[in-house]
Amino acid sequence: MARLLQILCTLLAVLLGSTSSVTFVGDDPVVELSLGKLQGSTMQSFTGKTIYAFRGIRYAQPPVWQLRFSNPLPATSWGDEVLKATSDSLVCPQPGITLLMSEDCLKLNVFTKNFEDKLPVIVYIHGGANVLGSGQSVYEAGPQYLLDHDVVFVAFNYRLGALGFLSTNSSEAKGNFGYLDQVMALEWVREHISHFGGDPEMVTILGMSAGSMAVSLHLASPLSAGLFHRAILMSGSATNHFDIDNLFWTRKLARELGCPMYDPTDVVECLRNETWPRIVEICKAWETYQFVNMKWNYEVDGHFLTSHPTELIEEGKFNRVPLLISYTANELDFTANVHLENEPLLHDLGSNFVEYAPELFLYRKDSIKSQRLKDFYLRDNMTGINAENIEQFGRIFSDGIIGHGVHRLVHLARPYTPVFYMRTDYVGDRSISAPLGEDHRPLGVGHADDLQYVMPGLWYGTIMPAGHSDIFMMERLTSWFTHFARTGTPLNTTDSWLPCTSTDLKMLYNGVVTQVGSPGYSDRYALWDELFPTPAASGGAAWKPGLVVAIATGLASRLGGKLM
Ligand SMILES: *[C@@H]1O[C@H](CO)[C@@H](O)[C@H](O)[C@H]1NC(C)=O
Ligand SMILES: *[C@@H]1O[C@H](CO)[C@@H](O)[C@H](O)[C@H]1NC(C)=O
Ligand SMILES: *[C@@H]1O[C@H](CO)[C@@H](O)[C@H](O)[C@H]1NC(C)=O
Ligand SMILES: *[C@@H]1O[C@H](CO)[C@@H](O)[C@H](O)[C@H]1NC(C)=O
Repeated sequence: MARLLQILCTLLAVLLGSTSSVTFVGDDPVVELSLGKLQGSTMQSFTGKTIYAFRGIRYAQPPVWQLRFSNPLPATSWGDEVLKATSDSLVCPQPGITLLMSEDCLKLNVFTKNFEDKLPVIVYIHGGANVLGSGQSVYEAGPQYLLDHDVVFVAFNYRLGALGFLSTNSSEAKGNFGYLDQVMALEWVREHISHFGGDPEMVTILGMSAGSMAVSLHLASPLSAGLFHRAILMSGSATNHFDIDNLFWTRKLARELGCPMYDPTDVVECLRNETWPRIVEICKAWETYQFVNMKWNYEVDGHFLTSHPTELIEEGKFNRVPLLISYTANELDFTANVHLENEPLLHDLGSNFVEYAPELFLYRKDSIKSQRLKDFYLRDNMTGINAENIEQFGRIFSDGIIGHGVHRLVHLARPYTPVFYMRTDYVGDRSISAPLGEDHRPLGVGHADDLQYVMPGLWYGTIMPAGHSDIFMMERLTSWFTHFARTGTPLNTTDSWLPCTSTDLKMLYNGVVTQVGSPGYSDRYALWDELFPTPAASGGAAWKPGLVVAIATGLASRLGGKLM
């Protein structure tokens, strides 16, 4: 019966002159792109609708050998063969997981319910601090919730860690490879998504954590202009104070692999000869304290980025699309809890806070700034971190790594484009990071805890069984996100949730019930604004975000005393 319907639909489409070029082999759809034919498979949405899934589609050439540490090249045609796009790609090389990995990972997944429509498209950019994560449909980016709504969903992998962001600060390796992969995935969407029932003129990019920071970079990048029409940012923005130094980490990696350190040609040639497991393993060994950080990050390369994203957005020089920007009430508050038993470390973190802080919170050594942070978050008579104040300590990560950048983006963007600003306060049944209370429920809503309501996966939260107490939150968020993808507003009226504009500043608090008020944590973010002013706020002068750290502080001393 279903089969008959499909045939009728296909016939109807042909009669109506649709451009769709889908056929069926049994139940499996086959689409024909300019690159060749792809065979998909079927799966079910949360409420049991049929989803056509196309998984593991190559969007760029394998970034191996001479293409490692190079800008991606677009995928080429595979001729007459019908490619099976029926299983997820291997994930990009990353530490600490048992999934199968490969450098040949620049693949994407497309999920649709219908080939004839022109539906809004949501493209997911995964998180993981630029070193972890994937667009894998089982582990991270399941389509089952979003596809209960009328959208096409795309998720993809991009290069991570040194393989994605290595930089010699010269033409030999200019960095940003992971971000250029993302641009290429968006170009693939623009070119091919109409064959899957998606509207290339109605693309929403949705990022979480490092993926959200990536979304903010696509707002600022000239290369991403026209490739998307709305953006959803969940817990991350590159409009932060981060002191980025890819060159330093590149040299450290080269040195630890026994490669030359300085001449860019020698460095890159030697690193191209190393196996990726060695590269991943060396970088992993730098993360002994398990605190979130983003060593590998963007470069202002004159190509993907012409200036610091904060500067571009502050000046209005960005892709001005409607924005939906959110974070969670507790973000990284629980990040240090893994060390609760490690008394010597907690004692040292407290008593030598000023020494540790620049490394942990990603700014150049500055004892005045460090002392101000300590005074504000921990009070000045504090000599150790313990069970009583460990979440106070965690809040510095919440604000410094996530919240303040997000808050700043809202302020910088709102004169130019509507910004729907939201904080998720709802404490669900499951949390990745929050400790559990006596009733076995989490004691807060941590970083990425909201993603489980948008896309199910083994890492952030599996599909909820029928009757689960958090289903209403999944229905709420997916309905807001898909409505936003369609119209640029999360609700069908903005009466109850006004966007932030040059004159209005409102936050929606997303709890069991929703409430609109003034944005939260403004006293906390005011401190970061004062310590790390924007170019305009500091008069423009001397605002050169972290490019010369290795020189300023001496490479040798940095190599000696690394923390993360
Ligand atoms: C890299 O490997 C190639 C072939 O295996 C070899 O000819 C070349 O000398 C190597 N280069 C370096 C810098 O190790
Ligand atoms: C010092 O710490 C104690 C105990 O945590 C606290 O009660 C007191 O207010 C603190 N004093 C100052 C000046 O912060
Ligand atoms: C707006 O959405 C609500 C809830 O989905 C619905 O009840 C209402 O009828 C809608 N209003 C309009 C004007 O479409
Ligand atoms: C990178 O190169 C630019 C231009 O050559 C230079 O101004 C800058 O200082 C370099 N950065 C580092 C960290 O060496």
